[in-house]
Amino acid sequence: MSFGWSLFVIALTSLNILACAWLINWSSKMNIGDGETTGHIWDGDIVEGNNSLPRWWLGLFWITIIFGCGFLVAYPSFGDFSLLKWDQISQYEEEIAAAEAVYGEVFAEFAATPLDELKNNPAALSAGRNLFANNCSTCHGSDARGARGFPNLADAEWQWGGDPDQILTTIRSGRTGIMPPFGAALDDATRQLLADYVLSLAGREVDAERVAAGEQQFRTFCFACHGLTGEGSTLLGGLALNNEIWRHGSGRSIILDVITNGRNGAMPAQEPLLGADRTHVLAAYVLSLSDED
Ligand code: HEC
Ligand code: HEC
Repeated sequence: MSFGWSLFVIALTSLNILACAWLINWSSKMNIGDGETTGHIWDGDIVEGNNSLPRWWLGLFWITIIFGCGFLVAYPSFGDFSLLKWDQISQYEEEIAAAEAVYGEVFAEFAATPLDELKNNPAALSAGRNLFANNCSTCHGSDARGARGFPNLADAEWQWGGDPDQILTTIRSGRTGIMPPFGAALDDATRQLLADYVLSLAGREVDAERVAAGEQQFRTFCFACHGLTGEGSTLLGGLALNNEIWRHGSGRSIILDVITNGRNGAMPAQEPLLGADRTHVLAAYVLSLSDED
């Protein structure tokens, strides 16, 4: 906060408190005839008394004001001025440092262990499970089996590669899949043909002539990322199309929509958030999931 803003906040809060004090003082000095009524009558006999505020009640207001002044001066709410020098960011940083002092060493030890070994270490997997629940399950599901648009991490099918190094790179640096939209580049008939060809790659029944024509188009526009036979490319994240595992849905209309409008799946980089050691443990955890299948 700049000095000007600080001054503004101090003036504003002081004025408000002074105004409250004045209001209480004014209303407690009002000349009220205790025992009299306001003259309002309900239901024939219910009258409204006109009495001074009880002393204990007024006292509570004064106590609140005194507490408020103390709080303002002690904690950072009076502009930049704070007697205790407390603020929530430092408190957060202290707590993180305290946790790091306890767990940092444990994670450093895990990080020094090769992934192939670490994926069989129960303590590391238990830590990995917790990290996953907190940082990954929103997208990949608490069982890591994914959802439409989000990959299943518990199977043996890998968009960006299933080697320990590839999984570690995916988690640390993130990935962005680029499936370009072909709505402008290809006419409707060609896109329909390609949708049928994609279905045939997955093993569905499709007219042989259409398959032959579709293959032609596929080998022109799609093979660079999806491979000549739809086997996919872990380098470009082109999903394998020669199976019944669908990221965006298995219906023909969805496949046509993917081809027409494209898709961009984004896996956010985790190293900036979690650091190298924890991402290493997460990679071991993810590896262990597909081992179970
Ligand atoms: C530049 C690389 C690239 C090209 C070229 C490309 N794709 Fe893709 N495609 C991808 C990527 C990457 C994905 C995954 C998108 C994501 O991240 O969600 C994908 C996804 C798909 C999917 C969804 C699969 C699923 O499991 O849901 C289909 C279908 C598809 N592409 C068909 C095609 C067809 C047909 C062509 C040619 C007209 C084509 N792609 C060209 C990169 C490409
Ligand atoms: C904001 C949602 C989101 C979060 C959070 C997220 N992911 Fe992902 N993740 C994705 C998406 C989307 C993809 C697919 C990327 C693509 O289409 O190229 C992906 C891909 C992956 C892959 C590659 C899968 C493959 O088949 O190659 C791995 C491994 C992975 N995520 C692990 C993790 C881990 C571990 C975490 C937690 C630290 C995590 N993800 C957090 C959205 C997310």
